Amino acid sequence: MASTYQCFLAAFFIVGVWASQATSRTLLEPSISERHEQWMARYGRVYKDVAEEEQRFKIFKDNVELIESFNKDAGKPYKLSVNEFADQTNEEFRESRNGYIPSLTRGSSTFMYENVSAVPSTMDWRKKGAVTPVKDQGQCGCCWAFSAVAAMEGITKLKTGKLVSLSEQELVDCDTSGQDQGCEGGLMDDAFQFIQQNQGLTTEANYPYKGVDGTCNTKKAPAAKINGYEDVPANREKALLKAVASQPISVAIDASGNAFQFYSSGVFTGDCGTNLDHGVTAVGYGTANDGTKYWLVKNSWGSGWGENGYIRMQRDVDAKEGLCGIAMEPSYPTA
Ligand SMILES: *[C@@H]1O[C@H](CO)[C@@H](O)[C@H](O)[C@H]1NC(C)=O
Repeated sequence: MASTYQCFLAAFFIVGVWASQATSRTLLEPSISERHEQWMARYGRVYKDVAEEEQRFKIFKDNVELIESFNKDAGKPYKLSVNEFADQTNEEFRESRNGYIPSLTRGSSTFMYENVSAVPSTMDWRKKGAVTPVKDQGQCGCCWAFSAVAAMEGITKLKTGKLVSLSEQELVDCDTSGQDQGCEGGLMDDAFQFIQQNQGLTTEANYPYKGVDGTCNTKKAPAAKINGYEDVPANREKALLKAVASQPISVAIDASGNAFQFYSSGVFTGDCGTNLDHGVTAVGYGTANDGTKYWLVKNSWGSGWGENGYIRMQRDVDAKEGLCGIAMEPSYPTA
């Protein structure tokens, strides 16, 4: 008798929970405009007037729909999320965030890692203490400076044993080498050339990041030097593997798609083209649980984007250019 009673009570309780969940779902699920308000509060976004808020709301709504339908239907091994870029169109996002200018004159330089024969099956330069925390370029198209600096920080750690955060702003303000134009774009190889001529680069602490073009302060003592730089032979992921096994490597990619803007986690498999527009840094490689090989890539869009600021991009793809052109223009400073 007692057990029947308990059973009845339990069943009643479960039905009660179902009913209240169903009610709360219809009553409490936030509307898209409430989600926009919550998102604005979370990211401290303030719009100048009602017209701008309406315009931004519409973009937010379109992006949320895109992200949710992607996560539900795309059948991809990675997910998107409603991140801090959710009120920007992809066009606006590309204009303010990318800024890699494809190279016109890639060198025929020697490749010092050509004869590296045994590479470890995985590499993560973060675990070797050769990678500084993820930085945020903000609304300035100087990805090229962040990419070059991350590669500099890596080789400096390998050479001196010390990890020092170096200055992107010095490159933004002072480097007019080749095609480098501060927030309007540039090229990692030109940055390496400038750093060599400049007798080094100072620290982040000495010359902090402002995220706008400024006047060059030349009185900053260099904290890290390089001898020069080399290009990894183009369109050979195997060559890139030897390089990344040896030090963090600057790479250029096509980061123009919505999927890149809202990437959240997993191994990114595209879609993407090969119109190189963004500079990032390959700081390792590995193989995911499902067997997909990936490059571990440090971005400069803050730690809220992707996997704590990183993206894993599929490695050893059919195209010789690599996914999103990652194998087209890799390069690195030499110590
Ligand atoms: C690689 O090995 C070849 C053959 O021994 C040699 O000629 C070449 O200089 C080596 N390359 C480098 C970068 O060490």
